[in-house]
Amino acid sequence: MTTYEEIFENNQKWIEEKKANSSDFFQKLSEGQSPDFLYIGCSDSRVTAEELMGVEPGEVFVHRNVANVISNTDLNAMTVIEYAVAHLKVKHIVVCGHYFCGGVKAAMQAQDLGILNPWLRNIRDVYRLHKDELNAISDENDRYNRLVELNVQEQCVNITKTAVVQRSYINNQFPEVHGWVFDVQSGKLIDLKLDFTKMLHDIQEIYNLGTS
Ligand code: CO
Repeated sequence: MTTYEEIFENNQKWIEEKKANSSDFFQKLSEGQSPDFLYIGCSDSRVTAEELMGVEPGEVFVHRNVANVISNTDLNAMTVIEYAVAHLKVKHIVVCGHYFCGGVKAAMQAQDLGILNPWLRNIRDVYRLHKDELNAISDENDRYNRLVELNVQEQCVNITKTAVVQRSYINNQFPEVHGWVFDVQSGKLIDLKLDFTKMLHDIQEIYNLGTS
């Protein structure tokens, strides 16, 4: 495990490595950002955004919270999405869940977790929406993994419900919203291949905000 002191030594080494590859690396970083991706993932320490995607600083705008939940009353998440879409004009929004997610596991248990209750209720709501499919899975681990995937799917739907995403997509044909799962055990990044245009079409009967 890295110690507190080592963090700053590591930082110095990192600066030297970056400058050895490209002497104006930090000068360029200071000039601004225009990332193509908004990544929304879990706060879990094992699921890093940039490292698992193999991208450099400046390439991905990141938002992380417990169990990658997007709630429309969460000012933090709504601000990140608004800024990324309307100002940075990202081309892709990704929700990346992960197997072995403690937040998803906690939501599957009959337990009072205090202030975590209202947050994890978002995941219990996903369970309720997909109860028939989930209850038909007899193996508990398989059911847990499927809830991880369905949680990603429903958070993608929540993003698609926002006016800023609908307006941008209608006017610019971007961003597209994608669902991914990171498998902690293998390191593999799995694209759930959600059909974004179908997702948008399916929810517009009810969530069409008449944006243009
Ligand atoms: Co997690």
